[in-house]
Amino acid sequence: MTPADSPTGKVAIVTGAASGIGLGIAQRLARDGTKVAIFDLNADGAGEETAKLCSDDAEAVGVEVDVSKPEQVQRGVEDVRARFGPVTILMNNAGVGAFPGRPEDIATACAFPVSDEASYITGQVIGVNGGRNT
Ligand SMILES: NC(=O)c1ccc[n+]([C@@H]2O[C@H](COP(=O)([O-])OP(=O)(O)OC[C@H]3O[C@@H](n4cnc5c(N)ncnc54)[C@H](O)[C@@H]3O)[C@@H](O)[C@H]2O)c1
Repeated sequence: MTPADSPTGKVAIVTGAASGIGLGIAQRLARDGTKVAIFDLNADGAGEETAKLCSDDAEAVGVEVDVSKPEQVQRGVEDVRARFGPVTILMNNAGVGAFPGRPEDIATACAFPVSDEASYITGQVIGVNGGRNT
């Protein structure tokens, strides 16, 4: 059974998704019909972006989580599972850095491996470096 066939469909957690690349990924996944949880330190930003996704008929939830705190991550995952069912996609994006890539460019790269078109690809790690080869 693929995630898309499961009773709850695809359920994604995107960390650091209140802004930037993570937000771009969350928006893209939501547009593709995935239920999305925005995990971010920035509770206000997570809430605002979740409200926008929901106003576009997506199913989304914003959760205040500091990914460096295991107990917060655990609690957040349990909240998402209770609301949407088993988590099928994890986008580990939270972090700090200054790179030239645009969120929508990187969101496309991240959306492909979890799309139905990529169901024949397994166990790949894709390095996204904002176009820099250093
Ligand atoms: N922009 C690029 O071209 C590029 C290229 C390669 C890698 N990256 C990496 O991608 C990630 C996102 O980059 P961005 O440009 O979108 O950054 P951004 O600063 O726009 O967004 C980062 C988000 O992560 C959140 N965050 C930070 N620490 C957190 C924590 N401990 N727990 C939960 N949330 C946290 C912030 O609140 C923010 O919403 C970073 O890890 C960055 O290093 C970016």
